[in-house]
Amino acid sequence: MATTNWTCWHTLLAERAQRPIPDVSPPTLPPEARAALAHTLAVFQLGETGEGRVAHEARAWQHPALGDTYADTLRLFVAEEGRHARILGRAVRALGGAPLRKDAGHALFARARRAGGVPFEILVLLAAEVVALAAYDAIATATDGSPLAATLREICADEEDHLELHAAFFRAVATTPAERAALAAAWWAIAPAALAAVSFGHARTWSRLGASPWSIQRVGLRRAADAARRAGFGPALAAPLRASASMT
Ligand SMILES: [Fe+2]
Ligand SMILES: [Fe+2]
Repeated sequence: MATTNWTCWHTLLAERAQRPIPDVSPPTLPPEARAALAHTLAVFQLGETGEGRVAHEARAWQHPALGDTYADTLRLFVAEEGRHARILGRAVRALGGAPLRKDAGHALFARARRAGGVPFEILVLLAAEVVALAAYDAIATATDGSPLAATLREICADEEDHLELHAAFFRAVATTPAERAALAAAWWAIAPAALAAVSFGHARTWSRLGASPWSIQRVGLRRAADAARRAGFGPALAAPLRASASMT
């Protein structure tokens, strides 16, 4: 069983829990681009609004590789996502928009998370990190030079850490080839679909910002492959494929 020093993660997230909400002033944008970007960020704000339930479930799961420190780290992770939600809420208002109360894609995401046990929940959260990184990076590029872009890049740095935290979870709990193969199969069902929902579901925003849905999807899929490798289930599907190719 891989051992992970969850205390280091706990310390990192606890240290940065007190950061103030930064400036989110957007650059000057055409009205249609402002409205479209406000809507997309409002949808992401809903996605960032976490529930502490996953931390309780991780604690109740009592996996020997996790423990209470991991569960408490997840609680800090949910709080950090809550800070992202508050930042995005300010950005939405700065763009002249209004926060959303619900969104069909977000509701589906929340239901999907609850459909399985703790590993499935973390897998869906890992997909959310990949999607957020692809989207926030594209928005930061499109609004480069503005306080909003700088703040989105700071959020991206947090999401990179979250991605590594979730990858460490899978390295710790998925210890057999069968478990890793199951995770790989689930991952390649979830991650591309989640990416497509944002790349093509928000195509109007990307086109108003001069970005391409296809390039966001491409960047996201590259990040998804990297996340799977880091989580330890990347080669699980590739290995049998390589073996069958060498037999032909
Ligand atoms: Fe986030
Ligand atoms: Fe995150």
